[in-house]
Amino acid sequence: MKLLVVGGGGREHAIIKSLKKNPSVETIYALPGNGGIAADATCVAIGATDIEKIVEFAVGNAIDYAVVAPDDPLVLGCVDALEAKGIPCFGPRANAAIIEGSKVFSKNLMKKYGIPTAEYEVFEDMAAALKYLETAPIPTVIKADGLALGKGVIIAQTREEAMTAVRDMMEGGIFGKSGSRVVIEEFLTGPEVSVLAFTDGNCVKPMVSSMDHKRAGDNDIGLNTGGMGTVAPNPYYTADVAERCMQEIFLPTIAAMNAEGRTFKGCLYFGLMLTPKDPKVIEYNCRFGDPETQVVLPLLESDLLTIMQATTNGTLAETEVKFADKHACCVILASSGYPTAYKKGYEITMTSEAAAATFVAGAKLDGGKLVTSGGRVTGTTAIADSLEAAIKEAYRLSDGVQFENAYRRSDIGQRALQALK
Ligand code: AMP
Ligand code: GLY
Repeated sequence: MKLLVVGGGGREHAIIKSLKKNPSVETIYALPGNGGIAADATCVAIGATDIEKIVEFAVGNAIDYAVVAPDDPLVLGCVDALEAKGIPCFGPRANAAIIEGSKVFSKNLMKKYGIPTAEYEVFEDMAAALKYLETAPIPTVIKADGLALGKGVIIAQTREEAMTAVRDMMEGGIFGKSGSRVVIEEFLTGPEVSVLAFTDGNCVKPMVSSMDHKRAGDNDIGLNTGGMGTVAPNPYYTADVAERCMQEIFLPTIAAMNAEGRTFKGCLYFGLMLTPKDPKVIEYNCRFGDPETQVVLPLLESDLLTIMQATTNGTLAETEVKFADKHACCVILASSGYPTAYKKGYEITMTSEAAAATFVAGAKLDGGKLVTSGGRVTGTTAIADSLEAAIKEAYRLSDGVQFENAYRRSDIGQRALQALK
């Protein structure tokens, strides 16, 4: 089979490494891929949002199956465009990807179908939003409606901060059109859990749970990032919590999307907060999480391609989705300064042992050398029988990845370890 994977980050590298385990896979094209992915797939310089060129390439190269991994091409209708040419795809169509593409849509969906989430108000008018904030409970959470590279959420600790965030989004246009509508919502507390789930629009099969580490610095201090590391499973996500989430969140969400005529197929990401009262949805993503995928897929024992095809064909109920009863930890190496300003172009070296455990994100090939080209550069994953051993091994392997200006958190998994004790 000839496969195409749209995207070029650590998540896509993890997906490609898993897909390659299926013996029927002959070729994988990554559009655009990256310098590290080039070791496992044929990278083609077509941007992940250049839908016309993606379709042209897929048709021209007789692609048998396409995986659209990032949020923006999904929201822009990449799956619809490929399907229109008869190419089967993994991922939701645009009318379902809106569950991530518009926070107003997802909040209204949850309210309409009684899916637990934070209380909220939607504003299209800045003056009304500012007036609301005069008496709103503080802290409060301000969210831009549309996609904002994972940065469209501000937790405001003071009224002033909240008002500044609203002005920046609605008047300053810091998130462009995405910020012309905002959601202002109740601040919730509790452990966060990421659950990625395969679904064919009917059956839903959750993957092993995971825990992201979003802040740039140790002890969850510093700016929000795309994620500095992950562990799986998430110790807060007990069997009881999982059963509640299935009944109160996962199944109702799938049913709600069907009732709206927006059947969701692919990977639905549930960003959950286990509040003292009940598990609530913080956000939906219409795709695999990054770096959650870098711990979840290495634990998958069943065949990824078979499962993906089952989500497309509607046969997920009969398809095995089995995870190893082990622990995984992924440590991200970033360019120092990320998520704001950082230098790039530094050569990356890896021991062969580290390379085998590493997913490459922000790196490109420059005259045959792998050099840094982004904020998050690599993710190194270890699997072990205990969380403690997985963390230790992930850090040891991550020592084998080197480049100038590298930065990593030193406490990935520590909160999870405390929770276990
Ligand atoms: P996001 O960029 O949508 O992934 O959100 C970033 C982070 O903001 C989440 O992982 C949560 O930690 C936090 N967050 C979002 N909404 C809320 C909320 N209603 N209450 C508390 N924290 C929140
Ligand atoms: N790690 C969070 C996300 O993928 O959105």
